[in-house]
Amino acid sequence: MNEPILEGRQLTRRYPGRPHPALDGVDIAVRAGAGLGIVGESGAGKSTLLRLLLGVDRPSSGEVRFAGAPLARADGREFRRHVQVVFQDPRSSLNPRMSVAAIVGEPLRSLRVGGGRTERAERVAEVLTAVGLRPEDGRRYPHEFSGGQRQRIAIARALAPSPRLLLADEPVSALDVSVRLQIVELLQELVERLGLTLVLVSHDLAIVSQLCAEVMVMRHGRVVESGPTATVLTEPADAYTRDLLAAIPQLPQNLGWAS
Ligand SMILES: Nc1ncnc2c1ncn2[C@@H]1O[C@H](COP(=O)(O)OP(=O)(O)OP(=O)(O)O)[C@@H](O)[C@H]1O
Ligand SMILES: [Mg+2]
Repeated sequence: MNEPILEGRQLTRRYPGRPHPALDGVDIAVRAGAGLGIVGESGAGKSTLLRLLLGVDRPSSGEVRFAGAPLARADGREFRRHVQVVFQDPRSSLNPRMSVAAIVGEPLRSLRVGGGRTERAERVAEVLTAVGLRPEDGRRYPHEFSGGQRQRIAIARALAPSPRLLLADEPVSALDVSVRLQIVELLQELVERLGLTLVLVSHDLAIVSQLCAEVMVMRHGRVVESGPTATVLTEPADAYTRDLLAAIPQLPQNLGWAS
């Protein structure tokens, strides 16, 4: 199997004053082309794990590795370029005072990729088109867009520096049900067309089964089960995974990988 691009080894995160660690000895490996879903009940430690993988929070023990090197010794610019993120709520993740073009072009400027002003503008137009918006939308501001369109803007910003990985924490759960499917389809298209590898935190097992070849089930800061999504969701080895599946009676009809 190919080397992981991003890896967590024995990651533990304790918060002061908390009796139990939010994350307790978690191993995770993200390999190119193998989308990874992270599921589990509220408080399981999913977002904590994602923050450690993004380098915005530090583990109490254990280490995160990028491209074979511990994060502290990895090339910081390469890491920030290739590991991009989309959060749950596009209202709070987009700066209301910046035009869409400035928002989407910001990672290109700060990472100094994508060339000069003209090339950056071209890249912004290109990624806006890739997410189903128009290049002219760059002149508008976030409040002029619907929730689903704002999430498209957030995805365009993440795509701008041509990352290898996209980490997404509940990217559709703040959206209307009717818009969710469109964003899921967009993510699927981007994964297939751009060869992007997705790490997806989601409560929605149907979405995980559609977008991720591998899944990891978490509970109380630990991994209770992991493996190919098709196997874990059809033949769960762990009682907790079975409970999680039983809580969603409509799942078996929705499985995207059933073919
Ligand atoms: N900054 C913090 N300070 C103290 N405790 C925290 C902090 N962030 C998270 N926790 C605790 O760590 C545990 C894991 O939280 P985390 O947000 O990672 O869960 P989650 O699986 O993402 O849940 P959800 O599905 O609700 O988003 C929870 O018990 C939470 O209360
Ligand atoms: Mg969370």
